[in-house]
Amino acid sequence: MTAQPDKYAVFGNPIKHSKSPAIHAAFAEQCGQHLHYRAVRVELDDFARSARCFFASGGKGLNVTVPFKQEACAFADTLTARARRAGAVNTLSLGADGTIAGDTTDGIGLVRDMVANLGWQLQGRRVAIIGAGGAVRGVLEPLLSERPAALLIANRTAARAEELAEAFASLGPVRGGGLELLEGLEVDVLINATSAGLSGEMPALPEIQLTVRSCCYDMLYGAEPTPFMRWAAQNTAWAVADGLGMLVEQAAESFYRWRQVRPATQPVIARMRHLLAAA
Ligand code: ATR
Repeated sequence: MTAQPDKYAVFGNPIKHSKSPAIHAAFAEQCGQHLHYRAVRVELDDFARSARCFFASGGKGLNVTVPFKQEACAFADTLTARARRAGAVNTLSLGADGTIAGDTTDGIGLVRDMVANLGWQLQGRRVAIIGAGGAVRGVLEPLLSERPAALLIANRTAARAEELAEAFASLGPVRGGGLELLEGLEVDVLINATSAGLSGEMPALPEIQLTVRSCCYDMLYGAEPTPFMRWAAQNTAWAVADGLGMLVEQAAESFYRWRQVRPATQPVIARMRHLLAAA
């Protein structure tokens, strides 16, 4: 008799358009892992109970997405240092002793996509992020560990960016402020981490100087280039990318934590790109 596959899931709300089941199915197939991964829409006030039920009924690991990443942080029995600093968890894993460990793999996903997949250099470069929400908090530590010359967080609401910069100041040269923080500056790597593109909008941007070597990354993705990507291309950025690679890379890191096997991400990014275009 064949053993039951190990159970994994992603919890979120909304969750209908999640690509995670397809990504993890592709990893499992590639790596010969016997597992089942599904997307679950959890009611807004029901995260902790649903997560407890999932693990009590034999679940091995959970991904957690909007709006539950902070709650998942409180839910975990133990946290990695980066998850504690981020105040957010996107990966919960059942340990051999029955405890639940929390980690955040979003930042590693972003850095791997930029550095390993796209070949962009962060070390010694001036890196700027637009936005100062939860998505930014989760990526600051991995970005700073690449040792940029400066990491600038510019946000429509200056106080949020200032507060974030202060919280991470001990890890590297990070500064926060309003959008004017970037005015007139030459930026090597510009990351859009605002939610403006979700509604098809262009985020409010300062007058930034893109150079011939500027790389622009949108943490969002879609079948078509996002408004921010179109702006970057019009402003002759050297390279422009969306966040699909980040999505696959953060999933690969979760998969590695659960299965101790590292999937090859390039074929899965290519497959997801194809599926997006065909949808
Ligand atoms: P997330 O967890 O995805 O980061 P969030 O915490 O709601 O979501 O943060 C959204 C971010 O996008 C914020 O930095 C927000 O700026 P404010 O802090 O000033 O609200 C930013 N944002 C959303 N729409 C924007 C727009 N049209 N232009 C510029 N920034 C925008």
